[in-house]
Amino acid sequence: MKIAKEELEFLVLGRESIPAMLGMQEEAFACMENTDVLRRNTADSLSCCFSPPSVSVGVFYRGEMIAFGILYAPGKDAENLAYDVPDIPNVELSANLKLAIVRPAYRGNGIQRMLIGELERHAVAAGMRYLCSTVSPLNRYSRDNLLAAGYRIVKRLEKYGGLQRDLFSKRIG
Ligand SMILES: CC(C)(COP(=O)(O)OP(=O)(O)OC[C@H]1O[C@@H](n2cnc3c(N)ncnc32)[C@H](O)[C@@H]1OP(=O)(O)O)[C@@H](O)C(=O)NCCC(=O)NCCS
Repeated sequence: MKIAKEELEFLVLGRESIPAMLGMQEEAFACMENTDVLRRNTADSLSCCFSPPSVSVGVFYRGEMIAFGILYAPGKDAENLAYDVPDIPNVELSANLKLAIVRPAYRGNGIQRMLIGELERHAVAAGMRYLCSTVSPLNRYSRDNLLAAGYRIVKRLEKYGGLQRDLFSKRIG
């Protein structure tokens, strides 16, 4: 379904949105050929994504959430993807683009790219200078959107119990 950009609303989400986010994640898995493409989140793994500088943003169309994106700032925690990027001197100035999901019926409106822009604005406002993300080499839609948004591929990693992931990064500040 094609939607005019002006009809989309971007709103910061709270923890009460976790069940809806998990529901959208399951819907995404249900129409995926290879489920290795995405790491499955739980209520627990999402719960850290609502306290600044981390932020979760929902995309609403006519009052219904049709997509969301997550910026996660792990600080010095091992989850910080910047540890694998040689030219990021201080990992605390880098956050992860952790997840973006667009409901299948609404794909093809460039919503992931809009979400990346929105999360970048939050990250800059929070004093972040870099963003990193990992994407499966099989996930061409996400890869193309990150490349179009100015991210570069740093290297290929084995993550999450042996799954191949390309590590992307971008300087934002
Ligand atoms: C990756 C994702 C967020 C992209 O959604 P999006 O922003 O709507 O995608 P785009 O607007 O860039 O789509 C570009 C084209 O690819 C198509 N497309 C996008 N995702 C697709 C998918 N998963 N399967 C098949 N086609 C897809 C769109 O329909 C569109 O086609 P068109 O040009 O013929 O209209 C979405 O596919 C998704 O939610 N995937 C599951 C979760 C995931 O992989 N997230 C990223 C890793 S964190």
